[in-house]
Amino acid sequence: MQSDEIRARFLKFFEKRGHKIIPSASLVPQNDPSVLFNIAGMQPLMPYLLGEKHPDGKRLVNIQKCVRTIDLDEVGDATHLTFFEMMGNWSLGDYFKEEAIKWSYDFLTSKEEGLGLDVFRLYITVFGGSDVVPRDVESVEIWKSLGIPEHRIYFKSSKSNWWSAGLNSPAGPSTEMFYDLTGVLGDMNQEDFEKAEDEQKVVEIWNDVFMAYKQENGKVAGELPERNVDTGAGLERVTTVVQGKKSIYETDVFDSVIELIKKNSAKYDEKSARIIADHIRSAIFLISDGVIPGNKDQGYVLRRLIRRAVYYGDRVGSQNHCLFQVMDEILKKYKHIYPNIEQQCDFIKKEMGDEEEKFHKALERGNKEFEKGIDPFILATTYGFPIELTLELAKEKGIEVDLEDFHKKMSEHQKLSHTASAGMFKGGLANHNEKTIRLHTAHHLLLAGLQSVVSPTIKQRGSNITEERLRIDFLCDHKLTEEEKKKVEDWVNDKIKKGLNVIRREMSLDEAKSIGAEMEFGAKYADTVSVYFIEDENGKAVSKEFCGGPHVKNTAELDFSSRDSSRDSGPFKIQKEEAVAQGIRRIKAVLL
Ligand code: ALA
Repeated sequence: MQSDEIRARFLKFFEKRGHKIIPSASLVPQNDPSVLFNIAGMQPLMPYLLGEKHPDGKRLVNIQKCVRTIDLDEVGDATHLTFFEMMGNWSLGDYFKEEAIKWSYDFLTSKEEGLGLDVFRLYITVFGGSDVVPRDVESVEIWKSLGIPEHRIYFKSSKSNWWSAGLNSPAGPSTEMFYDLTGVLGDMNQEDFEKAEDEQKVVEIWNDVFMAYKQENGKVAGELPERNVDTGAGLERVTTVVQGKKSIYETDVFDSVIELIKKNSAKYDEKSARIIADHIRSAIFLISDGVIPGNKDQGYVLRRLIRRAVYYGDRVGSQNHCLFQVMDEILKKYKHIYPNIEQQCDFIKKEMGDEEEKFHKALERGNKEFEKGIDPFILATTYGFPIELTLELAKEKGIEVDLEDFHKKMSEHQKLSHTASAGMFKGGLANHNEKTIRLHTAHHLLLAGLQSVVSPTIKQRGSNITEERLRIDFLCDHKLTEEEKKKVEDWVNDKIKKGLNVIRREMSLDEAKSIGAEMEFGAKYADTVSVYFIEDENGKAVSKEFCGGPHVKNTAELDFSSRDSSRDSGPFKIQKEEAVAQGIRRIKAVLL
């Protein structure tokens, strides 16, 4: 069974059981500065797990794009990836353990509707209890009733069978399903099972989380208003077991890509090829979701992934523009599933090509610095040298590298710049505090202002909002003049001054499109969407955008410091306007 078939079956299986199919959200959380990327299907659904009503009801199913870079060093083994697709079914205050477990079991084992996996290769873990939440004997009983022998069900601690997306998050105990990749393990006691897991002989394929608790500062702080189910099955891992392979890279998700690298490498080695394939795939998805290589946040992660891919490409002696061939091959695999990849093919390739060139230039400069015996931290942060490269060069020259010192400095640096691994697991809920909400509404006004003042063809290409400022990336063919910037500011401030109503309406996707509501370039949307309108005194919309919110009720709320006499115009101010790529401009703006 091919991975596309697995996708289709998963969605259909749950659709048949009353779940509404919802599309993947962008990899970059639109309103949540506390995380760099969606690391699980639950991230974009956080408000609904906390009790907000979802427009598509209480049973949902999706395949969510995720990026996790915490396991970067493990990429290239049998099971780790930086980008993956997570299949998940959701109960928002509807069914609970009984149905969730039964459907997981049925989907895994049914030949007709599911994957037809061998039940004798299945192992189960359940939550073993903590100070506040009891051990999950109920799940054990349900598994047993489905025919799983008790000695293949293991209790595990909170470390592995408790799920939350950070310190402040909905949370709950989980039951996980594992599959024997070797086919010969049979009955195992817990110790042998854990050893087999370490050796990647058994692999986790699905996780059912019974999300009934609320976690604050890492501690259980009570129950949620409703009991939810959040499940996650990594498509690539599931494909590995369905296709009877020993590693993700041998499945149809990657096999032709690895083959290409092999064919075009003078000094092929398997691990490097896997890293190249993984990183280029992640980079494609990140760029298609609006990330551009840079020195901070998401841009930094993307830069590191591309540079590592280029580095490993050099290491295997890649020829014939191999990395571009790899890009084409991956783009070909996904374009029918993610239309925004197809629409941005040329842009993606250009960004990757430019970054490759920049990296090679930096390498030249960095190599010279290296001769002088420079610090690996400086090489990484100033010259963009991946640590792997520094280690390699150091080895050639017989120089010792103080890795501990390097990691210490890097982690301090990352804390400061909120980058990758240190930043992305900070966790936290979508930021719904007042400052962010105001800036979010200002963001809508700014886009409408740009279209009204500068050009109606302007389209949003990315956004990011923190408590301090908003940022928008948009398609525009020129640098804004001082006059244009001033006019846009005046336009937005005028709408704030007028105190216009902000109204949320739910409607069908078709209707929203027909009224011309602003949508993100290339993004996919559900059938029912929510659209935010900002209406003038005659009820005419000055802004209408697809958006999950939240927003202020009236634009007057954006002027929260109107008593500040030092201000001579309205609160909205553009701080910076700059190019981020050919044809893409970025504005950072604040509310004073
Ligand atoms: N949120 C759970 C996970 O990612 C399902 O494993």
